[in-house]
Amino acid sequence: MGLLLPILLGFLASLIGGLYLLGVFRQRQPGEPPLDKGLIPWLGHVLEFRRNTLKFLDRMKQKHGDVFTVQLGGFYITFLQDPLSFGAFIKESREKLDFGKFAKHLVHRVFGYLAEESELHSLQMLSNKHLKGDGLKVMTQAMMGNLQNLMLHSTGSDEDQSAWIETGLFMYSYNILFRAGYLSLYGNAPPKFEGSEDKAKKKDRDESEALFKEFRKYDQLFPNLAYGVLSPRERSEAQRLMELFWNSLSVQKMKIKDNISGWVWDMQQVREEKGMDESMINKFMFVLLWASQGNTGPAAFWLLLFLMKNPEAMRAVKEEVDRVLKESGQKVQRGGPLVDLTHEMLLKTPILDSALEETLRLTAAPLLTRAVLQDLTLKMADGREYIIRKGDRMAMFPYSAVHIDPDIHPDPHSFKYDRFLNPDMSKKTDFYKEGKKVKYYNMPWGAGVSMCPGRFFATNEMKQFVFLKLAYFEIELKNPDEKIPEIDFRRWGFGSMQPDRDIDFRYRFRF
Ligand code: HEM
Repeated sequence: MGLLLPILLGFLASLIGGLYLLGVFRQRQPGEPPLDKGLIPWLGHVLEFRRNTLKFLDRMKQKHGDVFTVQLGGFYITFLQDPLSFGAFIKESREKLDFGKFAKHLVHRVFGYLAEESELHSLQMLSNKHLKGDGLKVMTQAMMGNLQNLMLHSTGSDEDQSAWIETGLFMYSYNILFRAGYLSLYGNAPPKFEGSEDKAKKKDRDESEALFKEFRKYDQLFPNLAYGVLSPRERSEAQRLMELFWNSLSVQKMKIKDNISGWVWDMQQVREEKGMDESMINKFMFVLLWASQGNTGPAAFWLLLFLMKNPEAMRAVKEEVDRVLKESGQKVQRGGPLVDLTHEMLLKTPILDSALEETLRLTAAPLLTRAVLQDLTLKMADGREYIIRKGDRMAMFPYSAVHIDPDIHPDPHSFKYDRFLNPDMSKKTDFYKEGKKVKYYNMPWGAGVSMCPGRFFATNEMKQFVFLKLAYFEIELKNPDEKIPEIDFRRWGFGSMQPDRDIDFRYRFRF
């Protein structure tokens, strides 16, 4: 009996502790948002959430309104889905809503990289230096050279220039954007090692092609990797791919390249100076590759597809391309000098800008998440207040809250190339919900501390690609009546969406 009581008490304590951890005792307290724990202890709604995030959040919003707390795999996450109140989330102090800790945890699990606490600051500083202002001009120039190498290397050759080339639009766009972006950031093969300029260019084409093939394999495993639900076979494939990228992007290999971007170079230097292990820096190089190359290709695919499906939009963009080219004094000519599309030229394309913004509205769907470090009061625009608990998480999914809200964007599922254009061709920024101006009317880049630091470069990359494609080539869908593919709903929350299947198109030189 003397021993039995402590054993029983111990068992009871662990049972209660276990149930507590499973969230069984959590109740909604006065002042808190509606709480929906789901039926499965600890897991809560995670299976439904992962199956189709958009559908799940719509269901929750219909049930509970625009603020609710749900249980997802051991976390309590409060979703804020009222766009007029987004400022409360975006502008909350970092002491209360933190991005760094959450990101650090994810990046370690998915890329094997162990970040240090202070890294957000250097990422922002170096991105401001190299991906904005003068740095952006340098990057845009580098991108131009690499796009020329990948898209136009056969223009001067004897190949039959008038033949149509047929291929999948998604894979084509992703392939070119990935490879040109990768070469612009991580550098080119040096002609002095390869023997000549042409051989170095060929090496760039071949090496980037091989890397893209491997990247696509990782990309396809990514959603399940992020949710930690890969099968053992997939897990070992993901590990193999990670090791391949750590090796391919390693500091040793990078140091012998020409034209490494200041962004990648400085990111590496900062870590080296701090004494970070070289193998860890190599892992970081893969984090950067993932962040920089996973979104532009899919987004450029949708843009070209929407243009091909909307003849009026295509006509307007093509006219703009031809006008800007003419004004620059350049001409697309067989065997002539290649068009040099500069940063300045890209500032004169309001129609293409609007078409791109519209594309991102329809197809970029990030999930913005923060860790709640202190109890806080969420103040809504209409005066409601909610208490949010320390230890929980907060999130927003702007795609459903803003991008496809018919009040903010009428006929929200249609592509309207001039949706973001005023009649005087300036950028339209006035959008309303219930008669009130909406500040965050399109959020493909996220917002606040975690807002994409590569957005200006990304915009230029996609515009350069589309501009060159339309300036040099005739393009059309193989079957113009084929329906636009659906979005692959397993990727909701992961930035630019991908289609659930590819769609064939063809192109040939215009001149
Ligand atoms: C269409 C293209 C792109 C889209 C839609 C996009 C979108 C985003 C979004 C939504 C985030 C924030 C994620 C969050 O809050 O959790 C993000 C972060 C990031 N993006 Fe982009 N991005 C694009 C292209 C690029 C490019 C080209 C670069 C670099 C050259 C880049 C570099 C980064 C980095 C480094 C982060 C992490 C920021 C941090 O941890 O604070 N992105 N991006």
